[in-house]
Amino acid sequence: MRTYFDLTGRSALVTGAGAGIGAAVSEALAAAGASVLVTDISGDAASAVAERINTAGGKADSAALDVSDRDAAVAAAAQAAALGEGNLHIVVNNAGVTSPAMFPKLTDETFRLTFDIHVMGTFHVTQAALPHMPTDGTGRVINVTSAAGLTGTLGQVNYSAAKAGLIGFTKSLARELATKNIMVNALAPLAATPMTETIRTNEKFAANMMNRIPLKRWAEADEVAGAFVFLASDAASYITGQVLPVDGGMVM
Ligand SMILES: NC(=O)c1ccc[n+]([C@@H]2O[C@H](COP(=O)([O-])OP(=O)(O)OC[C@H]3O[C@@H](n4cnc5c(N)ncnc54)[C@H](O)[C@@H]3O)[C@@H](O)[C@H]2O)c1
Repeated sequence: MRTYFDLTGRSALVTGAGAGIGAAVSEALAAAGASVLVTDISGDAASAVAERINTAGGKADSAALDVSDRDAAVAAAAQAAALGEGNLHIVVNNAGVTSPAMFPKLTDETFRLTFDIHVMGTFHVTQAALPHMPTDGTGRVINVTSAAGLTGTLGQVNYSAAKAGLIGFTKSLARELATKNIMVNALAPLAATPMTETIRTNEKFAANMMNRIPLKRWAEADEVAGAFVFLASDAASYITGQVLPVDGGMVM
């Protein structure tokens, strides 16, 4: 019988995995059988998540990785490949920050910061991973974009531009890597994490957000993590260049 979601024998590298969605995705990939390199700009946060996975019976290692640092990305990719006996099957480019301000107040500094982390970070980590990725159809790059990149968000021109940039990145790379049988997709999540704390708790923002979510609730990070397992799995072997919103119906 064909098993679609078993990731036993696959290795994964997840960025920004010390908290929120990245931590939940690391745990979900490990629960599906993958060996996971949990990375974050905070090495301590990454190591705590890896320890949780190992205590629960999964297999994980950790590394401090600031995705804007190309050399650190190269080292992390090699470390992740060592977990998979030389192969790195799954790369999840999840690390992210926001730096909101209305357009007239946006600075070069915050514009560059969002690009450095989201776009350049995804560039560094994916390019570092590529030499380790198998070409037998198990290779996956999963980029984390946002509704902001699909529909725009008030006060987030910098973040929206970076997240929309990742969609173009995903589609172009999907075309290039199709010849290597590596699937490249993006996922646009919505979840209750440290990043969304203000828009969930500030009265003014919270009601407006709830109006935009047809399912009328926030997901916990582990609820959106299953869609990452899907894109990483054999169930998604004929899907590439797509953007999958996992957001309670906010973007449709
Ligand atoms: N939470 C949502 O509803 C939502 C919605 C749309 C998109 N996203 C995207 O999902 C991803 C994860 O978001 P989250 O909500 O879990 O955020 P979060 O703030 O809870 O976690 C982000 C993690 O990234 C790490 N990080 C920050 N800068 C980094 C860097 N330079 N290098 C490596 N790690 C770094 C942080 O230390 C943190 O652990 C982000 O790309 C975010 O833009 C989230």
